[in-house]
Amino acid sequence: MCGIIGYVGNRKTTDVLLNGLYALEYRGYDSAGVAISNGKVEKIIKSVGRVNELEKKVDKDNLSDSIFGIAHTRWATNGEANINNAHPHKVGKVTLVHNGIIENADLLKEQLIKDGYKFTSDTDSEVAAALLDQALQTTDVLESIERVTEKLKGSYAFGIMIEGDNNLYALRKDSPLLIGIGDNENFLASDITAIIKYTNKYILLDVKDIAVLNKNSVVIYHDGKEIQKPVQLSDSKGVDNTKNGYAHHMLKEIMEEPIVLSRLIEKYANAEDLAKLDLHDYEELDIVACGSAMYAGLVGQNLFEEYANIKVNVYPASEYRYKKKIYNQKSLVILISQSGETADTIAAMREAHELGIETLGIVNNPDSTIARECDRKILTNAGVEIAVATTKAYILQVCVLSLMTYITAKNKKLLSDNQDYSCFEKLPALLKEVLDHEEEYESIAEKLYKKESCFYIGRGIDYALCMEGSLKLKEVSYLHSEAYQAGELKHGTISLIEEDMPVLCIISDKNLKDKSISNLKETEARGARGIIITTKDLDDFEGYDKIIVPTTSMFTQSMLIVPALQLLSYYVALKRGCDIDKPRNLAKSVTVE
Ligand code: G6P
Repeated sequence: MCGIIGYVGNRKTTDVLLNGLYALEYRGYDSAGVAISNGKVEKIIKSVGRVNELEKKVDKDNLSDSIFGIAHTRWATNGEANINNAHPHKVGKVTLVHNGIIENADLLKEQLIKDGYKFTSDTDSEVAAALLDQALQTTDVLESIERVTEKLKGSYAFGIMIEGDNNLYALRKDSPLLIGIGDNENFLASDITAIIKYTNKYILLDVKDIAVLNKNSVVIYHDGKEIQKPVQLSDSKGVDNTKNGYAHHMLKEIMEEPIVLSRLIEKYANAEDLAKLDLHDYEELDIVACGSAMYAGLVGQNLFEEYANIKVNVYPASEYRYKKKIYNQKSLVILISQSGETADTIAAMREAHELGIETLGIVNNPDSTIARECDRKILTNAGVEIAVATTKAYILQVCVLSLMTYITAKNKKLLSDNQDYSCFEKLPALLKEVLDHEEEYESIAEKLYKKESCFYIGRGIDYALCMEGSLKLKEVSYLHSEAYQAGELKHGTISLIEEDMPVLCIISDKNLKDKSISNLKETEARGARGIIITTKDLDDFEGYDKIIVPTTSMFTQSMLIVPALQLLSYYVALKRGCDIDKPRNLAKSVTVE
C-alpha cells in the first residue's frame, strides 16, 4: 500500500511532508522516511515505526533551507519493516519513493548486480531506482523514465528526485498518485487528503504520463510530448484528526453512527433520491468487495434475495478477478468500498467494464478511483474514517443495500402495507439506545478477553453479521475467532470446541431462532459457554450472558446488531491492551493486489 507525498515550494518542506504523511498513515505505518533538498545538498531521514518516530528525527536533523522533497509511509510488501527497507531509496543520482509491487524485480535485480550495482535493501523499489540511475547514464530524464517503465511489470506510483535537478518527477500505474496544484508551489500525493490543507486543485495521472513539477509549473508528458490535463477540484474537507474526547477514533466513529445514518436516511426520504436506488430492472447482482465491505455485501445478499426476489452472488474481489464470469443482459456488478481505492475491487470493476457489464459503486470516498470510474455511484458520506477497522462506513454500506432492497421490493409490489420507510426513520434513535449500553459490552468483554479463541454462529442473515463481528474482533483484539453457519458447525469444526470456549450466537431472524439455539446447545453439550446476541421480542433465553438490542424491521435489524458487536470488539481490544486504531500488520486502504 504505502503513502507518498512530494512538495516543491516556499513553505517549510518538512512540515508539508510530515503533515501529508500523518494524513496518509492509514495506508501503512510500519516505517517512514523523507528526502529533502536545498538544491545542493540532499538529506534522507528514515525511521522504523509510525510517522511520529520520523518526526522526532526530522526535528533534530532538519535541512531548514530545503525547497523540495519526497516522503513515504510504508506497509511492507517486499522485505521486512526495517530501516534499510524504509523509503526513500537512493541509488546513484536517483532518490525515489514507491507504492505498489514490481513483480519482475528479482529478475531485474540479477542483471543489475551483474552490471555492478549493489543493493542495501530487500525492496523492489530500490531495483527501480537502480534501473533509472543506469538509464540516466545514457540519456535524459524523460527518456530514462520511459525506458524503466517499459521494463517494469506490476504496479507503481513513484515520486522521484534526481541529483543536480531541482524538479520532482511523478508517474503511476495501477497505484494512486495525483498532482496538487498550488500558487508558487506544487505537490504530489497518494490522495487529496494529504494536501487538502494547501490546495483543492489536482490533476490525475494516467498510465504513461510523466509529471515534472517545480515551484512554478507542472508539465505532463505522454510518449515524449507535452500534454494538457484537466485540473479537478476536490470538495474533500480533509481529515478531522480529533477524537472529540473519546479515547480512540474507533470509539468515536462508532458513536457517530446514529448521526451519519440519519443523514443518509433523510436524504433518501426524498422519493426522487430513493428512486435512484431502485434495481428492479436487474435479474442478477454480483456484489464484489473486500473485508468488511464484502460482509456488508453478504447482508445485502440476504435482503435482496429474501425481499426483492433478485439473485445475488457475493465475491471477494481478489477471487472475482480471476474467475470465469457468467452474465446475462440484466446483470449488474456492485462494487462496495469505503476507500474506493482497494486494488482488487478496482480491478474487478475494470474487468466488468471490459466485459460490457454495468457497474454500480457504493463508495465512501468521493474522490476515489471507484467513485470516478464506475457507471453509477452511490456515496455513503460517512465522513473520513481514521480507525483502520471500519465501523461507521460499514453500517452505511449496509444501509444503502437495505434501502436498495426496500425500494426495489416496493416497486416490484412485494412489500406488505406495514413495511414502510418509517423503520429507517426510527433507526438512528434505536441505535443510540444500543450504543448507550457500554457497560453491558464491557462486562461481556471481561469474560472474553483472556480467552484464546471463540466462535460466532448464526444462520441466514445472522451468519452475515457473524462474519463481520468475528472479523472486527480479530482485527482489533487479535483474539482468534471463527464465524460459522450454525448448522454447519457439526460437520467438522465442532471438534475445536473445548471446555469454556465462548460461542456467540446471533439470533435476529425469528424463523431461524429455534434452529440456531439447538446448534448453540450442541456446542454447550461439549463444554462451550453460550453468549446470545438477539432482539427484545425474541429474548426468552434463560441463564445466558446476553446482548439484547431493540426490535425493528428485518430491513434495519442488522444495523442495531453489528454496532453492538463493534463495541464488544472494542472493549475486548481495550482490555487486551491492543493498539486499537492501528492494529498490527493492517492498513486501512489496500492498494496492492
Ligand atoms: C482493508 C481494511 C478493511 C476493509 C477492507 C476493504 O483490509 O483493513 O477494514 O474492510 O480493506 O476496504 P475498502 O476501502 O475497499 O472498503
